Amino acid sequence: MLDGTVVFSFDRTGYARHSRDFAVSSPGGLDSPNALSGQVAVVTGANAGIGLETSRLLAAAGAEVWMVCRDPARGVAAVATVPGARLAIADMSNRMDVRKLATSLPEHVDMLVHNAGALVDKRVTTADGLETTFATHVVGPTMLTRLLGARLTPESRVVWVSSGGMLTQRLRWDGQPWTGGRRFDGVVAYAQCKRMQLLVAEWLVESGGARSPWHATMHPGWVETAGVRTSLPTFHRYTQNILRSPAQGADTVAWLAAARRGDNGRFWFDRAEAKPYWFSWTRESEAERKAMLESVEFLSRP
Ligand SMILES: NC(=O)c1ccc[n+]([C@@H]2O[C@H](COP(=O)([O-])OP(=O)(O)OC[C@H]3O[C@@H](n4cnc5c(N)ncnc54)[C@H](OP(=O)(O)O)[C@@H]3O)[C@@H](O)[C@H]2O)c1
Repeated sequence: MLDGTVVFSFDRTGYARHSRDFAVSSPGGLDSPNALSGQVAVVTGANAGIGLETSRLLAAAGAEVWMVCRDPARGVAAVATVPGARLAIADMSNRMDVRKLATSLPEHVDMLVHNAGALVDKRVTTADGLETTFATHVVGPTMLTRLLGARLTPESRVVWVSSGGMLTQRLRWDGQPWTGGRRFDGVVAYAQCKRMQLLVAEWLVESGGARSPWHATMHPGWVETAGVRTSLPTFHRYTQNILRSPAQGADTVAWLAAARRGDNGRFWFDRAEAKPYWFSWTRESEAERKAMLESVEFLSRP
């Protein structure tokens, strides 16, 4: 019943309730210092918040963690706090950066965590002429996944840190998001792109067939991070006492990255599969889904 209230599911009380039986019903593969030894993890947006905590959790289980950060100084400072981690610099909204990043990563990647994200209040265009939210959350990560190609095997896990915000959105697509003269609304743009992450992950699974790595899209809950504090100050003011810690937000991210769980291409929340559509009106039309995926396929071509 409390889960139906959203607030008491996405908040820290929801995490406390859901995590009570994690060890019994969904053992982690993160519990021993050697569980992931010999495995390579790549985490984007790793210098802060959920990405930094995910890096810590995976490194603590023995993984070699590549922390992808856009700012060298913030990256160096963050990597120094994660034992054994390596730093890679890339702005995930920039196609050239993503291309260079792919060439610098190891020959085999066991875990790829698409975590980099931001909610912006103005329509800003990247050097590639794309709206920033779309470039960061959709084009950049899709391109990196495709560039890694066979370095991701069917045993590899790709985790997309999406958001519960997508549950309120039906995909709207008019060529590129927010070009059709609509007033830019950062919250809507963000939620639309989080919805697109789910659809792109499904498409990559379908198009990859038997060679596809395992993809999971997930919602980390409402987490106390710099991103929430600066992008959603009013939301933060009212919820600050009930937000999850970054480590709680990272728990399911790292759990999904550590091992395949269930079917490919599903949506997850608190170590359990979750419904990606809460309301029937949020289901996109086949035509819009196809048009969006065709554009993303073109823009993210390796
Ligand atoms: N916090 C929540 O309640 C919540 C809820 C649902 C989903 N999420 C998702 O969780 C993910 C992590 O967010 P967070 O809450 O941990 O926020 P955060 O503390 O602001 O961390 C975001 C990270 O992404 C990086 N980043 C942003 N744009 C980037 C780009 N273009 N290229 C490379 N790195 C970039 C940031 O780097 P800089 O430090 O350089 O800015 C930072 O390291 C995001 O995808 C967010 O949408 C968060």
